[in-house]
Formats: sequence, C-alpha cells, structure tokens
Amino acid sequence: MLSNQAGDGKRTSLHGHWSSKMAFVLAVTGSAVGLGNIWKFPYVAGENGGGAFVLVYLACVVAIGMPVMMSEILIGRRGRRNPVATMELLGQEEGSSKHWRYVGLLGVIAGILILSYYSVIAGWTLTYIVKSASGVFVNASTVDVVAELDAFKMNTGQMSLVHTLFMGLTIFVVARGVERGLEQAVKFMVPALLLMMLVLLGYSITSGSFGAGIDFLFTPDFSKLSWGSVLEAMGQAFFTLSIGMGAIMAYGAYLPEETSIMGASATVVAADTAIAILAGLVIFPLVFANGLQPDAGPGLVFQTLPLALGQMPGGAFFSTIFFILLSFAAWTSAIGLIEPGVAWLVEHFNRSRQQSAIIVGGAIWLLGFGSVFSWNIWRDATFFQGTVFDNLDFLTNQLMLPLGGLFIAVFAGWVMCRNSTAEELGGAGPAYSAWRFAARVIAPIGIFIVLFFAIKNVTA
Ligand code: TRP
Repeated sequence: MLSNQAGDGKRTSLHGHWSSKMAFVLAVTGSAVGLGNIWKFPYVAGENGGGAFVLVYLACVVAIGMPVMMSEILIGRRGRRNPVATMELLGQEEGSSKHWRYVGLLGVIAGILILSYYSVIAGWTLTYIVKSASGVFVNASTVDVVAELDAFKMNTGQMSLVHTLFMGLTIFVVARGVERGLEQAVKFMVPALLLMMLVLLGYSITSGSFGAGIDFLFTPDFSKLSWGSVLEAMGQAFFTLSIGMGAIMAYGAYLPEETSIMGASATVVAADTAIAILAGLVIFPLVFANGLQPDAGPGLVFQTLPLALGQMPGGAFFSTIFFILLSFAAWTSAIGLIEPGVAWLVEHFNRSRQQSAIIVGGAIWLLGFGSVFSWNIWRDATFFQGTVFDNLDFLTNQLMLPLGGLFIAVFAGWVMCRNSTAEELGGAGPAYSAWRFAARVIAPIGIFIVLFFAIKNVTA
C-alpha cells in the first residue's frame, strides 16, 4: 500500500486536492443532484401517497442526512485516503479497531451496485435526448408518451447500447482524475439544471393543475404511511444526498484543511432538497392535468415531461435541453458512485487510475445487464421485492445506505474522540454540540427504529 503520511505528520491525498472551496461544494452538489432528485424523488413520492412521505423525507434530510453528511466529510478529510483505508486508519488511531474498514468496503460495494442500475436509467435519459430532438413528442398525447416508453422498455438492444455508452462516459471522466475530470464536469451543470427547472415550473404553474400538485405534495395523510414507506423516505434521503456509502468521504479526502464542513454541507443539502422539491412541483401538476397516474413508477418523468414539453412552443428544443441536462446530472453522480471503488483499487492494489476505472467500471457495466433485462426479457422473473432492478434498489437504498449511515454516525459520534471531531468542525460551540448530539443520538436511534420496524413488517 502507498503511504500518504508526509514528513510533518500532515496527511495529503494521493489523488490531488480541490482547487477551491467552491470546487468541493460544486462536486458534492454534482454528486447529490442527479436522477435521485428528478427521476426518483417524484416517483417514490407518487407511489407512497405524497404529502406524509414528503414530510418524513424532509425530516430525515435535516435530522439524519445533514449530520451524517458532516460526519462523512470530517472522517474523509481526517483520513485522506479511500473510504476503506480511511476507516481502517482512523479506527486504529482512535483506539478502536481496524475492522471499521468493513464499513468502507460496504460502501464500495453499495456504490458498485447502485451504479449498475443508475447507469441503465441514465441510458434512458440519453435515449430521450434523441427522441426529443427528433420531434417524437411534438403534440404527443398521453397515450402516445406512455406507448413510446413501453416500447422502449422492451427494446433490449437499444437499452443495452445506451447503458454501455453511459458507463463509457463515466469511466472516461474518472480515469482522468480528480482535478481535470471531476471538477470541470460539474461547474456549469448545477446552475443550468436549476434554471431549466425554473422554466419548467413556469409552464407547470400556467398549464398544469398546480393546486392539485401542491395538495398532493404537501397535504400529509398519515393513514397512507406504513413503516415500509417511512423506510423508503429515509432511504431516499440517503440516496439523494449521496451519503451512507463513503462517496462523500472520498470527496472529503480531497478537501483543504481550512474549509468549513458545516457550511459546505448546509449548502449541498439546501441545493439538493430545493431541486427535488422543484421537480415535484413541476411533475405533479402535469400528472394531474394530463390524466397520468402519480404512482406510475420509474417511468414517471419519462412520461410527464415529454408530454408537457411536447405541447409547449419550441417543445422539441426544450425537451432536448432538459434531457441533456438530466444526463449531465446523472453523469456527475455516476462519477461519485464509482470513485470509492476506484480510489480503493488505486491505493490498495497499486493500480493506475485508468486501469482501476476500467476494471471497476467494467464490472458495473456487466452487472447492469441485470437491470436492463428487468424491463424486458426478465420482466416476469420476479423474486422477493420484484425484478433484479427492484431488488438492487431495495438492497442498496433501504438497507445498505441506512446501515452505512448508522455506522458512520456511530463512528464519528462515539468512536472518534471529542478533540478530533471538534478540530475538524472548527472548534466546540453550539453548532458543534448540535452536530454531536445528532450524530450520537438522533441519527443512530432514528435509523435503527425505522430499519427495525420496516424489516419486522416485511418479514411478519
Ligand atoms: N445522489 C445521487 C442522485 O440523487 C445518487 C447517489 C447515491 C450518489 N449515492 C451516491 C451519487 C454516491 C454519487 C455518490 O442521483
């Protein structure tokens, strides 16, 4: 293994550092803002009845997501290695155990599994760029867009092709390394996406059933909320913030000493949540205005937005731009999903970045076919939660990420001593105390209770 201990005892990262604080915030935002906000949030909110689910999701973001994100960044910056090595190093340094490395390993595996299906859905967005540009959705009816998506789902060859293309793009950026690859890819995407969402919001307010959309999203009906939905809301909070799997830890490893972890986390959490809510505000008014079903599942955005955009003047153009931006958002997230695995291979097995990116990316690409086939040839081969895609989604979002987050919070709150965490968070004060209480008590107990009751209900 390579050493990253400099002579003066200050650790630096082998993979370079972010050129500025802004670059770090942008990169973490780029990883957080992705399909999770625009594709996943609306459809899981739709499947779980809206309001009450959204409320639980928001509570989880604030009470669990934010403290876990801060924990990940501070652990990452202190260790300055890949998540596996960092957890091992700090575990020993804090007088606990090197076995904390398995938390890092769990994260590496979660990233690989998530990206395997994430890449398939990202492939859908690539396909929808082409469909939009060729005018397929101009003046299309509800029946047309639904039929278009159904036909695409059955097209194994095309879906395999776009999944392959997307993984190729991801491997390409990751192989180029932190400074040149990651930073440049995220610099303009977030503002552009935000702008596009605002344009769409304008359309949704004027042409959708905006009142019905607001009602669905924000009027809680707790009778619709099962423990399963609560777990799904918590899982969504982890997924959308990219936490619980060491990705943010890996990014934190490249963070300069003087940056405020609390400020950076608050910015990222606010931006990510705003974009998800915005997506909900755009999509549900359109769902209700066009007779679509809120619980249409993973196809929801691929039905509503082409439909709405196809009716707008310049619709083909806006629809093309929208799916380009969504592909970019997915791309910057994919980079974060693969990074822990790649960084681990580089450091642990002494591989070059290029080699590592190709090895990990290749494995993910192969695994991805399980999700490609989930929509067509293996559609009926269901078990436990459903298709291969459904099971991967459940395993990662609802089990691995919350468990990873639980261990990370316990590690930062209980294993690391007060001095270490206070040093990383800029000294003891009320904000520090609030974080520590959340990391020691609220997050671990909250995650445990939700996992416990949800699993009890699934197995009962
Ligand atoms: N947050 C991403 C999204 O909303 C998905 C994601 C989950 C992710 N875990 C991650 C991205 C880790 C980067 C790193 O689309």
